[in-house]
Parts: sequence; structure tokens; C-alpha cells
Amino acid sequence: MFDEIEFEKIKRLPQYIFANINEIKLQMRQNGEDVIDFSMGNPDGPTPTHIIDKLCQAAQKSKNHGYSVSKGIYKLRLAASNWYKQKYGVNLDPNTEICVTMGSKEGYVHLIQAITNQGDNAVVCSPAYPIHYYAFILNGVNVVNIPIKWNNNMYLDYQAYFDNLEYIFKNTFPKPKFVVVNFPHNPTTVVVNKDFYDRLVKLAKKERFYIISDIAYAELCFDNFKTSSIFEIEGAKDVAVETYTLSKTYNMAGWRVGFVVGNKKMVGALQKIKSWIDYGMHTPTQIAATIALEGPQDCINDIRNKYKNRMKVLINSFNKIGFDIKEPKASMFVWAEIPNRYKHLGSLEFCKQILKEAKVAFSPGIGFGDSGEGYIRIALIENEKRIHQASKNIKQYLNIK
Ligand SMILES: Cc1ncc(COP(=O)(O)O)c(C=O)c1O
Repeated sequence: MFDEIEFEKIKRLPQYIFANINEIKLQMRQNGEDVIDFSMGNPDGPTPTHIIDKLCQAAQKSKNHGYSVSKGIYKLRLAASNWYKQKYGVNLDPNTEICVTMGSKEGYVHLIQAITNQGDNAVVCSPAYPIHYYAFILNGVNVVNIPIKWNNNMYLDYQAYFDNLEYIFKNTFPKPKFVVVNFPHNPTTVVVNKDFYDRLVKLAKKERFYIISDIAYAELCFDNFKTSSIFEIEGAKDVAVETYTLSKTYNMAGWRVGFVVGNKKMVGALQKIKSWIDYGMHTPTQIAATIALEGPQDCINDIRNKYKNRMKVLINSFNKIGFDIKEPKASMFVWAEIPNRYKHLGSLEFCKQILKEAKVAFSPGIGFGDSGEGYIRIALIENEKRIHQASKNIKQYLNIK
């Protein structure tokens, strides 16, 4: 019917590469098979009890049952502001510099919709969390990629990054208006320090572009590493916003709570578009999210330690069966190069074979962009026992003695 009516925008989105893996996984589970699943960054632990308790209390009160505030209730914006103050020593005005979002993904997509024009250029890392790229594509914005390169410590290679960025600004017309960064980086786990943001903010002011920085994994750091916020740099608010989420820090992925903070013009654009699009997140959820940010924080240490222990066990056992995985400094992933003998398969085929034959699911690197080819992303969402089992299954399949 109506073949002449084309949905042009939706055609810009390709088939989701991870759908391949998901379909096989689903089929296997329907057949009663046990799949050890490292494929999605979906925390496996429960939300801490004090947050759930607050949700239950708030849900009992009828005054919380109506429409909420699209940019988030004041108390939650204030809690986000206090979080920034305590963690990074940064002042943010809860009214004009903070917008609560339904997870950081929703916030990011609507932000891009609000601030871009068709035909703009934007710079995104490759590989990348796919929506960092496709939110622009959906809105008719061209994306220029910067390949992510790193050193042995899993720090970003700043020189390569800034050489590429400067080259892009010399050679791209119209000049890109937006640069997206995401450290700790999904999928590679690569991290940066404050001096990276210092250079980036200086360049943004010189070349006149806005920065969107995603720090979803800010709290999932190991040993002595600490994630920086771009706002630790003087004057960053002139050019940048940051997106953050409660999904990973508090095992609250299904609750859909995040925020976008910083530059008033960008935050204002997001608040405005959201005032047209939604009535705000369910108020009891916002009240519980306030408690997550303001209540006891020892739960974060537990979550962090759980990922760290799994990461050590996984690297130790996988490196014995032919991988050569470097320890990440942060995130809930490891980024593993496919052993040379199997690289010719490509990451999608490698993941399909491992899934079908070893019953272990990974995310193929190619799903995060061309620069992800040759790698797989392993989410640390299975326990130690199952990590050992996965390693056994893979060893058997790969026939490595
Ligand atoms: C880098 C990055 N940003 C944002 C998100 C989305 O988080 P949220 O649950 O807040 O939408 C994810 C989820 O995996 C992510 O990896």
C-alpha cells in the first residue's frame, strides 16, 4: 500500500548489526540452550534496596501520579548539581544548566535533534556507541569519523586524536559544528585525563565547535584511575555539554534516568524540545533517582569491585586460550582483539560461530563502526563461574590445547 510514500528518515538507519546475534541468541534460548551472554552493557545486578524502597514509598502518594516536569523535578536537578559539585568541584545552575532525561540515550538523541541543521557536519569517534553516530544521520547531518587509537595503558593516543581533529577542521566544509567524545569509551574502554579536555576546549574555542561529552561510565573506574569531567576545565561551559546516566552506576538501566548538563544554549534547546515532546519521567522514579544520587554511595564500590573482579578473571582465563587482552582502566567491558588465526572470519562471523558452537555471546566490533573490525566487545555481566565455563567452551571450540 502507498508505495510512493517513502519514510526517508528511517531508511537512513541501517539494519542493526547486533540484531544478527540477538536473533540467534533468542532462537537458541527458545530451544532450551543456555547461552553465556556477554553481549550487552546491561548490568546484571539489582538496584540497591534503599533506592527501590524510596520508589515504593513515592509511588504510594497520589500527588506523584500526575504528569511530571519535562526537564525533571527541581530536587533531582539540584541533586545532579550537588553531585557535580562534590565529585568534580563544578557549579551548575539546576534551572538553566541541567536537564533530566529518560536515560542519557534519549537525552542525547533529542539534544542532537534540537541543535542540528540538515547538512551540518559532526565529528564522532570510530568505533562508537552506535547512537552517537546515528542520531546525527537521522537528522541529515554528515558524520566525519576519528579512529580511536590507544597506547598500552589503554589511554587515548592524544597526538593521533588531535592530529586527526585538526586535519578534519582544515579539510571539511562546512566546518563541523559538533564534536562528540565519550571517555571511558564504549566499546574500547579507552580513557583520557583532564589535559585531554583542556586541549579539546581550547581547540573548540579556536575552531568554533560545540562539544558533547558522554561520561556514562564515569563511576566505573578501577584502581587509581578517576574519570574527569570536561567542566573541570575553566570556561568549558562556553562550548560543552556532558551526558551522564544512573543506568550503570546504580544498576538502574531499566529505570531510564540520566541528565544533560553544561552549556546554557544547548541545555536550553534540550529543555525546550522536551517541553514539546514529553511530560517528564514518572515522578516516583525521579524521587528515587534523587535518593540514588544523595543517599549512601558504598553501593558504587560494590558494583565497581564486581566488574573489576570479573574483568581480572576473564582476562586471565581468556588470555590462556589465545587472546591477548589488555586490562581496561574503566567501564564494564573488555575490548578484545580476535586471535590472529580467526581474524579472517571478520568479527560478525567470529561471534556467530562462537555463539552457535560454544554458546557464548559477544558483540562484534564491526557493530560499532568500521574501526571496530578485528575486535569483540565483552560486557562483564556474567559471574566468575560462567566466565570460566565460557572460556572452557571457547577453548573446546577453537581447539586450542
Ligand atoms: C557510552 C554510552 N552512553 C550512553 C548509554 C546509554 O545509557 P542510558 O541507559 O542512560 O540511556 C550507553 C549504554 O550502554 C553507553 O554505553
